[in-house]
Amino acid sequence: MVAQTSVEPRQLVLPVFVAEGLTEPRPISSMPGVVQHTLDTLRKTAVEAAQAGLAGVMLFGVPSEKDARGSGAVDPHGILTEAVRAVREEVGDDCLVMTDVCLDEFTDHGHCGVLTPSGAVDNDATVEIYAEMAVLHAEAGAHVVAPSGMMDGQVGAIRDALEAAGHVDTAILAYAAKYASAFYGPFREAVASSLQGDRKTYQQDGSNLREALHEVALDLAEGADLVMVKPALAYLDVIRAVREVVDVPVAAYNISGEYAMVEAAAANGWINREAAIGETLTSIRRAGADIVLTYWALEWARRWGSAR
Ligand code: PBG
Repeated sequence: MVAQTSVEPRQLVLPVFVAEGLTEPRPISSMPGVVQHTLDTLRKTAVEAAQAGLAGVMLFGVPSEKDARGSGAVDPHGILTEAVRAVREEVGDDCLVMTDVCLDEFTDHGHCGVLTPSGAVDNDATVEIYAEMAVLHAEAGAHVVAPSGMMDGQVGAIRDALEAAGHVDTAILAYAAKYASAFYGPFREAVASSLQGDRKTYQQDGSNLREALHEVALDLAEGADLVMVKPALAYLDVIRAVREVVDVPVAAYNISGEYAMVEAAAANGWINREAAIGETLTSIRRAGADIVLTYWALEWARRWGSAR
């Protein structure tokens, strides 16, 4: 009766990985309980997500071949596009089909964009590829596209491309304030990334709060429908600050390393797993996130259902 914050299935999005060429799901060792799906097991998981009343699923594709340009990302029959088709066929409008629009899953160097001859990320060339990806995803049935590469102008370019292709109802969830973070570690295994070095030339510096508000304002001006802060736990103050200045829904991504920390400590018997998950998700909602992307979404939804 007196709880001031709730974590409800409708507020949660389940991130899911689907890998090309798998015959059975492949466990991700640094994320116990999370797997790279086959297209078949992805379909089943998406149906479970819809039945559990989750807001949606966020799809990440892992191609079997990677190259410098991330060609698999714009292949109409690439793994991510096929995954969108498969999931949309299963869930229709029962839950939202969302896609990560980024190149790091597809490039052999692991950066979020294509590179210039000197090895820097080429912002403008990358943005054009994101726009092409977003249109492919919308055509395949994505309700929401989520550009996550932190390139300047990515939201505007995607909005223009979607409009030009007639996808006027596709929503853009902008990874607006995304920080360069050590907590993405396990994600690298999840998408088989070979990244050397870091993403500090395009992701944000963890010491900057005002910069996040600037990035959010730019994305909204470019046509974002929802904005996201990422990671969540080390950036709860950023979530709160963004929530206070925007009127659109604010999402936060409870990322791989945040998941892994709880799972690892729980596996060692050092913390109470269920309680720690509840506290984690509640803290992100209490900080002001309307929507939480979390690898615990399905488990939480089941628990929430049985608690009532
Ligand atoms: C970029 C992307 C990343 C994550 C989501 N989208 C990785 C990165 O930017 O380094 C991380 C998610 C997680 O760690 O759970 N495609």
